Amino acid sequence: MVATILPPLSLYIHVPWCVRKCPYCDFNSHAVPAGEAIPEQAYLDALIGDLESTLPAVWGRTVRSVFFGGGTPGLLSGPGVARLLAEIRARITLEPGCEITLETNPGALEEGRYAAFRDAGVNRLSIGVQSFDDASLRRLGRVHDGGQAERAIESALRSFDNVNLDLMIGLPGQAEAAARQDVVRALGFGTTHLSVYQLTIEANTVFAKFPPPLPEEDVVARAQEEIDGLLAQAGFEHYEVSAYARPGRRCRHNLNYWMFGDYLGIGAGAHAKVTSPGGGVLREERFRAPESYLRNAVQGQFVSQRRMVAADDLVFEFALNAFRLRDGFAPSLLAERTGLGPEKFEPGLREGVRRGLIARHPERIAPTGLGMRFLNDLQALFLPAGDGGASEVAADS
Ligand SMILES: C[S@@+](CC[C@H](N)C(=O)[O-])C[C@H]1O[C@@H](n2cnc3c(N)ncnc32)[C@H](O)[C@@H]1O
Ligand code: SF4
Repeated sequence: MVATILPPLSLYIHVPWCVRKCPYCDFNSHAVPAGEAIPEQAYLDALIGDLESTLPAVWGRTVRSVFFGGGTPGLLSGPGVARLLAEIRARITLEPGCEITLETNPGALEEGRYAAFRDAGVNRLSIGVQSFDDASLRRLGRVHDGGQAERAIESALRSFDNVNLDLMIGLPGQAEAAARQDVVRALGFGTTHLSVYQLTIEANTVFAKFPPPLPEEDVVARAQEEIDGLLAQAGFEHYEVSAYARPGRRCRHNLNYWMFGDYLGIGAGAHAKVTSPGGGVLREERFRAPESYLRNAVQGQFVSQRRMVAADDLVFEFALNAFRLRDGFAPSLLAERTGLGPEKFEPGLREGVRRGLIARHPERIAPTGLGMRFLNDLQALFLPAGDGGASEVAADS
């Protein structure tokens, strides 16, 4: 084990409710029953108790980013978000300039709350647009249309100068030109960040049970290439598989995940990763169902699973995150973030270079263009021996 330098720390807050459950979504999100409100006060109390219970693991450390994710965190009220952020600040120091992002959906009736979110301390808004095309949005089961998405963005830009838009491509029945058109429309608003995800059919979703007709792979690949070109021309940096930012506007919170930083995770089903000062990485998961989370919170219980990550798994988990970054990482990060010696990564790195998937320089280790295209293959090189990792591959060759 190499001496551990503690990584930067972020805070993730999960809000598990949505107006309606989308048929493609496998996030921990649950439709609010029609005519009912979310149990906001009970949930905020639980979140504060949850944070308090986890503080001993991070005494003395400061938080560099906060992210309200969902579900639909925009369903929280402005005063609710203000109270929560004040309670957080009273318990743990947020670094100056701390990025505080809140995810929200057009059509979730929360646009009137954007100014209140800003006044509460939120300084970055992420809007789940997905598409501006009404037919595509209907097929995705979204509660909003393209016009509502546009109004939500305009409204967000009146309160925030740092706004991300989520788009999806490879949508049921979507032609190449339609995917490009969505990006062109998104660019027209002048936001600072775009996330473009390819629709994936996740197990245990309505789409898995009743698969919609999806465009051919080469159609999606061509759309992706065109989008990359458009965004580069518009001055966006493509810094992660799905993330594009104007200079200086990369998402600090997500970057911390990808650089294998630490994060507290509070709320139903939230995940946490914390490096202990003596070495070793702790992973935790909270009770997943909102009712179960709230019920256990009353007893002061929040965590349903807790484990120390085995050294071999750390190697793979690091690779799973860090190779998503197009610029890669400094070689020193391997030891800094895992506490492991370089020999643990050597077989995977060598094999990655041999196959043209990894570029290795004294200052930087990064995926090549081929490595980005075949990211799963690259990441699999770091699986523990016996699971198909490079230590096995190297022994075979
Ligand atoms: C955590 S989700 C929640 C955001 C917000 N509730 C919404 O849906 O607008 C974040 C983003 O993940 C993307 N996403 C969700 N399910 C997906 C799937 N099956 N395939 C690809 N992207 C997905 C969507 O773009 C979504 O905006
Ligand atoms: S609104 Fe977002 S989080 Fe909620 S169900 Fe739809 S995709 Fe999932």
